[in-house]
Formats: sequence, C-alpha cells, structure tokens
Amino acid sequence: MKVVVLGSGGQLAFDIFRLKPEGVELTGLTRKELDVRDKEALIRTIRELKPDVVINTAAIVRVDDAEIYESRALETNAIPQKTLGELSASMGFSVVYISTDYVFDGTKREPYTEEDRPNPINMYGFSKHLGESLLMNYTDRYYIVRTSALFGFKGSRSKGNVVYNLIRKFREGKIINLIDDVYFSPAYTHDVAQQIWKFIMQKWDHGIYHVVNDGFTSPYGLGLEIFAILGVHPRISRVSLRDMRFRAKRPRYSAMQSIKKVKLRPWQEAVREFLKEIDIQKSL
Ligand SMILES: NC(=O)c1ccc[n+]([C@@H]2O[C@H](COP(=O)([O-])OP(=O)(O)OC[C@H]3O[C@@H](n4cnc5c(N)ncnc54)[C@H](OP(=O)(O)O)[C@@H]3O)[C@@H](O)[C@H]2O)c1
Repeated sequence: MKVVVLGSGGQLAFDIFRLKPEGVELTGLTRKELDVRDKEALIRTIRELKPDVVINTAAIVRVDDAEIYESRALETNAIPQKTLGELSASMGFSVVYISTDYVFDGTKREPYTEEDRPNPINMYGFSKHLGESLLMNYTDRYYIVRTSALFGFKGSRSKGNVVYNLIRKFREGKIINLIDDVYFSPAYTHDVAQQIWKFIMQKWDHGIYHVVNDGFTSPYGLGLEIFAILGVHPRISRVSLRDMRFRAKRPRYSAMQSIKKVKLRPWQEAVREFLKEIDIQKSL
C-alpha cells in the first residue's frame, strides 16, 4: 500500500512515520518539498506517486497567526482539500485530513461528538471547517480526523506544544499563568497516529472521527498534572481566558469524544507516557 504524507516535517507526521505498519510504502513531503498552496505541483506530485492514501497534516497551526494572515490560512488549511478531493474522486485514493476542535464554538457543556454542528469562531477554525467541507464536497473517500492540543516528541516548529511550552516556562523560573476557565481534550501524537493507521489498515468506514485522549481538562489542570508527575513546584498563577488578551477568539469549551468506537487512553496516562518518552526529569 502506498501512503503519502503532506506537511511531513510536523510533529504528528513524525509519529505517523514512527508507527508505519509493515508493508506500507510511505512517502513524506515537507513544506519545502511540496507547498500545498501550489496547486499544479500538488496535482503533478499526486499523479506521479499514485497513492492509495494521502494523509494531509500540512497547516498553519498558530491560531493567532491565522487571524493576521487570513489568506495564507485559507490557502494552506482549506483550499488544497478541493484539489485533493477532486483527485481522490478521479484516482480512487482515500484522504486523511487532520482537523480540529476549533471548528466548534465552545457553547456546549459536554464533550462534542461527531454529530455536533461546527460553528467556528476564529479564522483558524473557519479555515479548517472550510477544508472539511471542500473535501466532503468533492470525494466520499475521506477520513476527517478532528484532534486537539497535540503533544508529541517532535513538537511543532511554529508553536511547540502544550507540554513543552509549560516545561520551558518552568525552566525560565517565571510565574506560570495557567488558564482555568477553558476546557479541552489533549491528544498525544503517538495515540493519534496509531488511530490513523487503524483507520487505514483496518479499512474503517470513511467519515468524520474525533480522535483525542479520553477526558478533558483546563490548561490549569494539565499544568498541575504535568508538574505533579515531574515532582516540581513552579510558581503558578490561575488566570482567566479574558486576562490573556489573545488576538483570536477561542472556544471556552472544546472537549471532544467519539461516538464511533474511537477510544484512546485517558489524557493523564498519555501525558505520563509522553513525559517518560522524553525523559525530561534528569534535565530539570
Ligand atoms: N498542534 C495542535 O495542537 C493541533 C490541534 C488540532 C489540530 N491540529 C492539526 O493537526 C495537524 C498537524 O499539526 P502538528 O501539531 O503536527 O503541526 P506542525 O508540527 O506545525 O505540522 C504542520 C506542518 O505543516 C507544514 N506546512 C505549513 N504550511 C505548509 C504548506 N503551505 N505546504 C506544506 N506544508 C506546510 C509545516 O511546515 P513548517 O513548520 O516548515 O512551516 C509543518 O511541518 C495540522 O493540520 C493541524 O491543523 C493541530
């Protein structure tokens, strides 16, 4: 089976590569090798490679940047899904598109399921929702994987990840502001990548799937968990989302769950496993 990963320099792509099942011929294309905004290059490359599956992880992931660079966010996060959808329909391959909890507006008070209606409140969420709609409009052969607050070994070049960012702040020795009125479901890239391979290898039905670790927490709850596991005691200040003055609006509640048999381990276990993997304790 031939699988192509777009945006392959990223943190989720890193674990998709690490967990490659036997028998899969996997080709990765970084932004430098293939900019997904270049439609002609995208078409040419996919026609040449003739994949069975394309996993598109490429994105502008910084939520506040998407607010500033609107066209770039749309050109990267949304528009290529039309081309991939058209190619998928004509060539017969499946597309895995990585989407986000930020397609929701955050007004619900229990975890969002695959049946809930998106209603994005910022440009990042809007661009991702448009990407989902374009893909679904042009092909039936899609896995839309909505995930959230990804943390993994590689980290994102542009935004790090929630766990690395907290460890960095601890090392700087400053007071750490932790928001206590925003709730979300963190997701370990290892577990998300494993589930993506299950969709592909076990030929799950095409469709939308929520893929996050089980449960939800606030940045404050996540911080306490991480620092307790590490056995360190930073100075913490509990703050409200309002205090942070982010450029982009953020949903106050974007916890997700799957009602389609996706079941990842609880986020606390995933965080513990990740901290073990990066073996950070020795250097604190
Ligand atoms: N990180 C999160 O918390 C989170 C939450 C929910 C959903 N997601 C989604 O999950 C996916 C993977 O995220 P991640 O955490 O692995 O982010 P990441 O590490 O930043 O990976 C994204 C990759 O896309 C590349 N890229 C950016 N613009 C591109 C372009 N025009 N053409 C080709 N490649 C391009 C980036 O390259 P450069 O670094 O060189 O720019 C980067 O390697 C993304 O689709 C994201 O929207 C992420």
